[in-house]
Amino acid sequence: MNLLPSLFSPFKIKSLELLNRAVMPPMGTNLGNTDGTVSGANLAYIKRRARGGAGLIITEITSVHPSGSAIPNELGAFHDQFIPGLGKIAGAVHAAGGKVALQLHHAGRESIYLLREKKAIAPSAIRSLVFGLTPREITREEIQEIITAFGTAARRGVEAGFDAVEVHGAHGYLLTQFLSTLSNKREDEYGGSLSNRSRFIIEVLQEVRKAVGPDFPISLRLSVEECIEGGYTFEDIRPILPSFVQAGADILHASLGTHGSPGGITSAPFEFQPGFNVWRAKKLKEEVGLPVIAVGRFTEPSLANEVIARGEADLVAFGRQFLADPDFLIKAREGRPEDTLKCIACNQGCIERLMLGEGKIRCAINPETGQEIIYPQAPAGVRRQVWVVGSGPGGLTAAYEAARLGHQVTLFEKETEMGGQLRLASKAPFKDQYGNWASWLIAQAKKKGVILRTDTEVTGDMISEGKPEVVILASGGEQIRPDIPGIDLPLVCDAWRVLGGEVAPGRHVVVIGGGLVGMETADYIGQRGAQVTLVEVLKRSPVLKITSHGYMLHKRLKEAKCRLLFNTSVKKIDDSSVTLLMEGGEEDLSPVDQVIIAVGLKPRNELKEILQAKKIRHFIIGDSLEPRRIIEATEEGARAAWNL
Ligand SMILES: Cc1cc2nc3c(=O)[nH]c(=O)nc-3n(C[C@H](O)[C@H](O)[C@H](O)COP(=O)(O)O)c2cc1C
Repeated sequence: MNLLPSLFSPFKIKSLELLNRAVMPPMGTNLGNTDGTVSGANLAYIKRRARGGAGLIITEITSVHPSGSAIPNELGAFHDQFIPGLGKIAGAVHAAGGKVALQLHHAGRESIYLLREKKAIAPSAIRSLVFGLTPREITREEIQEIITAFGTAARRGVEAGFDAVEVHGAHGYLLTQFLSTLSNKREDEYGGSLSNRSRFIIEVLQEVRKAVGPDFPISLRLSVEECIEGGYTFEDIRPILPSFVQAGADILHASLGTHGSPGGITSAPFEFQPGFNVWRAKKLKEEVGLPVIAVGRFTEPSLANEVIARGEADLVAFGRQFLADPDFLIKAREGRPEDTLKCIACNQGCIERLMLGEGKIRCAINPETGQEIIYPQAPAGVRRQVWVVGSGPGGLTAAYEAARLGHQVTLFEKETEMGGQLRLASKAPFKDQYGNWASWLIAQAKKKGVILRTDTEVTGDMISEGKPEVVILASGGEQIRPDIPGIDLPLVCDAWRVLGGEVAPGRHVVVIGGGLVGMETADYIGQRGAQVTLVEVLKRSPVLKITSHGYMLHKRLKEAKCRLLFNTSVKKIDDSSVTLLMEGGEEDLSPVDQVIIAVGLKPRNELKEILQAKKIRHFIIGDSLEPRRIIEATEEGARAAWNL
């Protein structure tokens, strides 16, 4: 029985026939070779996703011209030498029964490494909002060269066996840069009026159409709105939309924002509800009557099914969901959605890792992503008896991965509830999905045969008696208690006790520590009516506004009138006041009825010495090695399991 008949129904446009309406949208991976050719890692990544059964997969950004790569290892389509590699991608998707489109891209000014090399070009020499550096203004000859390059790259796509091409006109890259008055101040026929600013997109589409012939489908990806102060809105570009259709677009892919838009809206953080962007797809569809792809925080096929059934979009794209769990469509089809690992939209391993130049694509909650080529599939040669100590994200991931590889795993948690810091993190505003992830990990670990023992603190005696072959120490961190006069007074408590619900928020609160936990605790109590002063010794907030969650947190704290004091420390705490030390001198805050400590963690790994003394093989992972983010914990947990 087809449980989701609208999503799992065929779709046809021109020569493109899709088995269903689920799309994997383009996602840059940085997995390519440095010369822009397709690597083994690219292929392994794409094969893994093709197995997931999307009707259409759109490849990651593929540069049409050497001047247009956004990331160092971006795939290229600017020479015939790229055709064989691209052909392997097309072949891999076809072998799995899907269809595949090649995304044609030019970054314009949004390329940190081209900006640094002073090679970035743009409609006008205006500073990149993302990277803060200024490109060179593109000449009219170069404009023609790049338009031609889009056509030639499209021809290569056809030759490589792709079923469609997508012109990347979204997210603040070259095509958007021409369209937007924020980045285009040209005085020739490519600047000024809306029709002039759209000329580049139109000529690109015409050139691509010429190259691929009349029956080959072209998708145009647009940011329907720029979502930035002074940027264009749907109403602004509405008059030009029919020209895009006339120029050759067959499908419109309704994305939003640019990488410079506040809050990383293009790959929206967990503050945004699944499907929040559908209304833009609907508007586009009503306006131009072409098939439209909706995108934005979709994690559940059932919601996509409803959107299509209501006629708001023809196809639905699941981006990060394909990174978190490439099998989610299969699970939906088989009627077991509870097995799906839903994307938590943390962006740590995917878009922010790429934007911050931290490396190749990963997923904070799925250690296979980006590592498909080394991800062990077969059961381990030797089946080991493994103990995992601690049930935070690292411990649970380690236990699940070890059991998946056939090891005999027992996981110990000293608390009654499992999940470690995930349980607390899930209490912060908008982070309930972290709790769902913890529940998923626990359920899946159980299914794989992990023995779970809560309320059990592992001791040296237990180790002597149980004789595990290997121990994975994932006991996390413990809160640091700073040495401040008054720290033991009853009004002082630590952030975990507040987030965990043990201590009710006060009215006039000082939070000591402006890292993520401090900010999130301030957010949590701010939303419950507390007046918060947050004190941080560093000169600047360690929670970067360029990360999407960081931006949203700063915004909410500002709206809640939380006072953020940087370069400030606490001199002493009294019964109802706090004395601060800042550059200009001292300040007494009064009244204060609660002081919350969130100055960070130190590793908790008391068992380390016992394990060393007993000569038991062990791995120390995550916060118990060094307090860091979720992605480090899961990565180290998985690595330990793979190396048993
Ligand atoms: C790691 C990553 C890389 C991306 N690269 C591209 C890209 O190459 N081209 C593009 O048009 N959009 C890119 N996007 C945006 C996605 O296609 C998608 O629009 C966005 O993630 C929102 O969908 P989601 O909420 O389902 O993830 C990227 C997103 C991520 C997370």
